[in-house]
Amino acid sequence: MPPRRATYLVAALFLCVPQLIAADAQDAPSNSAKPAVAPPPPKKFVEVPRGGNHLLHQSEPGYLAACLVVKDGNGDIREWIEYHLWAGVDKIFLFDHNSSIPMLRELEDYVVAGKVQYTYLTSELPKVKKFADGLQGRVFGQCLSQAKGYYKWLTDLDELMMVTDPAFNGSIPAVLRDYESNKQLGALIIHRVIVGSGGVQSRQRGQGMLETFTKCIGRPGEHVKGIVRPEYAEVGGNAHYFFYAPGRNGIRIGDNKTVGHVHMVSNPTAGPLLIYHYSGSIDEQNARVKRNPEGVSGMTSKDPRMLAILDARTNATCLLGRQAHDRMAAAGARSLGPRPLPAEAQAAAQAAVRRVLLGAGGMRALGSGLGGSGRGFRLRGERMG
Ligand SMILES: *[C@@H]1O[C@H](CO)[C@@H](O)[C@H](O)[C@H]1NC(C)=O
Ligand SMILES: *[C@@H]1O[C@H](CO)[C@@H](O)[C@H](O)[C@H]1NC(C)=O
Ligand SMILES: *[C@@H]1O[C@H](CO)[C@@H](O)[C@H](O)[C@H]1NC(C)=O
Ligand SMILES: *[C@@H]1O[C@H](CO)[C@@H](O)[C@H](O)[C@H]1NC(C)=O
Repeated sequence: MPPRRATYLVAALFLCVPQLIAADAQDAPSNSAKPAVAPPPPKKFVEVPRGGNHLLHQSEPGYLAACLVVKDGNGDIREWIEYHLWAGVDKIFLFDHNSSIPMLRELEDYVVAGKVQYTYLTSELPKVKKFADGLQGRVFGQCLSQAKGYYKWLTDLDELMMVTDPAFNGSIPAVLRDYESNKQLGALIIHRVIVGSGGVQSRQRGQGMLETFTKCIGRPGEHVKGIVRPEYAEVGGNAHYFFYAPGRNGIRIGDNKTVGHVHMVSNPTAGPLLIYHYSGSIDEQNARVKRNPEGVSGMTSKDPRMLAILDARTNATCLLGRQAHDRMAAAGARSLGPRPLPAEAQAAAQAAVRRVLLGAGGMRALGSGLGGSGRGFRLRGERMG
């Protein structure tokens, strides 16, 4: 996430994170309870050994993985996952950060099918000087190290990635394949457009973002995010860029401009990939600001006044989300809740959720295919922070 010294607009954009990255919606310590001493250094994640013990050792290598850290996103997480699977993501590393009700409940069928690698973790949110030391930076680091050798690309998206050019038929990998041979590319850099509430006060249960929100700021913003090649990049100085291997860089989609270690790039391009940055309904926006005075990166804070200012600027129409929703619905790719699991897997998933609710700390759930019996659905107690 952008550093605190970044412009006011940066903070505003940060406020507009979709409900599901209520990942940002931490129960952060209130300012009035400021500790007299500096917070302890962030705890280290469990290192993931390579080779036979690699968490993905049961997985077929894939093409595109996504990395996501979310708190209390139970209402929207399924839509995010189904959309990105539909758009060609092979695997989603989901870090459930201390949700009141573990999101495994909403996703157990995708976990068992091996599409989602689910990790529940608790971790403090100390203010940090280095992005890589904060919660989000550490999660990105985990994702990168896990994806290396297994995936060609890794998105760190906490927003919805749209394919703007119909020639690619909604497929993110189809766009990426065009860039694969680029020898300078460490990450493909993509702009985003803010989708506002459109005056929608609240959403019904099960009503997704894609179908609901279409009012947007017509022009993409200067902020960028990257889809990274794991073997050529490390966690950067904030959520918007990476540190690259020698000879590699960010390459902006659309005009192929070289982009270094920056989080904003002027003269935004709008495709063939474009991030839709959903702000949610008016009620959701207000609740988020109330809940969420501090960001998940440990480097930003939020300002509630920016919301109204942004919504007033969303006077254009952005239909890609709704179109994707309609195509998914027609193809049966949208579902409101988990499909029934084999009894054994169901019992294991319930036990895992119970363990978290009882305060047993972190856990990781890996799927290795439904396989009828649900055998291979491993749950390991792992304290992740
Ligand atoms: C987890 O969330 C609970 C509230 O649901 C909060 O009391 C607790 O401090 C949080 N813990 C961490 C480590 O974030
Ligand atoms: C476009 O994608 C859909 C799946 O979303 C697929 O059914 C269809 O065959 C594809 N069309 C082309 C021309 O590839
Ligand atoms: C940028 O690179 C892509 C992938 O190699 C290519 O398809 C596209 O034509 C290039 N665009 C420009 C403006 O050079
Ligand atoms: C939308 O607002 C912008 C200013 O934010 C303005 O330049 C533009 O003309 C407006 N467009 C429409 C269609 O009203």
